[in-house]
Amino acid sequence: MTMQWKNAIRISKLKPGKPKMVTMGLKTLMVVKKEDQFHATEGLCRHMRWPLGLGGKIVDDCITCPLHQTQHRLEDGELVDWAPFPLFPPYGKLVGKLSRKKDLPIYETRIEGEYLQVKI
Ligand code: FES
Repeated sequence: MTMQWKNAIRISKLKPGKPKMVTMGLKTLMVVKKEDQFHATEGLCRHMRWPLGLGGKIVDDCITCPLHQTQHRLEDGELVDWAPFPLFPPYGKLVGKLSRKKDLPIYETRIEGEYLQVKI
């Protein structure tokens, strides 16, 4: 299937550093504005599918899942930390083992008029 640019969300709806969930066809994406850049990633945490737009934190060019703090780089989706939380008792390590470590798929973005578009 060929990738196409599609409207994801009105730019005016994005507050800097505040991720949002968007549904595009069968996919759920996380979109975020960071400084002058826009990012779009797979919306569900690779660990246990928490929606990253709900409470996900943007720090140091990474998105961190609020549930067990799995962290991925926004730029390329690379895994930085897998389910480290909570550290004690070492429950995080345990739930981390419930699914296999994966990078976060990312999508190209561009601005078209009032919309952030994602190539999907
Ligand atoms: S669901 Fe995101 S870190 Fe566990």
